[in-house]
Amino acid sequence: MKTYIVGNWKLNFTVGEASIYLHKLLKALPSYRDIQVAVAPPLTALQPLSLQVDRHKLKLCAQNAFYRDYGAYTGEVSFNQLRGLIDYSLVGHSERRYIFHEDDKTVAKKVAAAIRNHITPILCIGETESERAFGETADVIRDQLIGGLSEVADDNIHKVIIAYEPVWAISSAKSAKLATPDEVAEVVRLIRATLADTYGAKATADIPVLFGGSVSPSNAGGYLTVPGVDGLLVGNASLILNEFIDIINIAKRVRS
Ligand code: PGA
Repeated sequence: MKTYIVGNWKLNFTVGEASIYLHKLLKALPSYRDIQVAVAPPLTALQPLSLQVDRHKLKLCAQNAFYRDYGAYTGEVSFNQLRGLIDYSLVGHSERRYIFHEDDKTVAKKVAAAIRNHITPILCIGETESERAFGETADVIRDQLIGGLSEVADDNIHKVIIAYEPVWAISSAKSAKLATPDEVAEVVRLIRATLADTYGAKATADIPVLFGGSVSPSNAGGYLTVPGVDGLLVGNASLILNEFIDIINIAKRVRS
C-alpha cells in the first residue's frame, strides 16, 4: 500500500500564491511510486492548478464540495463540477462539522457523491476534547465512521480513505495538544476493527487510514510508524513548503 501525504491548505493562499507554491513543490519532488502526495488548495485554485500539476508527482484534493450534482443550490460547487480537476476530496473535516454544522447524514451524502463522480473521498473523523474526557471516543468514532459510510454500496467500500483527526489535536484548536502515538494506535485499531466487522476483513484491509493533528517534521516519523497508519493529513505545516517537503522525505525514509 502507498503512504499518503496530504496537505490541507484550508482558507490560505491566493491563486497566485498557490501556483508559485505548486511550481516549487513540483520542482523539489521526485516522482515516488510508494508515496502518494496530494494538496488540497482553496476551491478557486483547483482549476488553474489542475492545468499546472504533474499527476505522476502529485494529485489535487478538494477541501469540500456539495452532494447534489447540479440544481438550485446558490453558492455551492458539486463533485460533478470538480470531476477531472481533482482525484481526492476531504469530506467531513472537523471544521466543516463544527463551524458549518455538517452532520453525519450530510457527510454520508458527500462521500457517496464523491464516489459517484470518480473522486476518492477522504472521510475525516475524530472526537472532541470533551468527548474524549467523557470516555465517548469509541462511540464517536464508530458513529462517524458507520454514519459517514452509510450511503456507500458494499462493493465500493474499497474506494474510500479514512483520516483520523482528533479535534483537540488540530492546530487551530484553542489549546491543541499533540496526540501520542499510543493514542493514535488505539483509535486506528478501532477504525480498522469497525471496518472489518461491518464490511468484512478482506474488503477493508487495503483501505488507507491517515492521521492528522498538528503533524510536523518533528513528529511525522513517529506517527508514520504507528501500526495501521498509512499516511498523514497535514494542515499548518503544509503551508510552509520546506516543512511539507521534509514530511514527504520522512515518509520516504520510513517506507524504505
Ligand atoms: P493541522 O491541521 O495539521 O494544522 O493540525 C490538520 C487538519 O485540520 O487537517
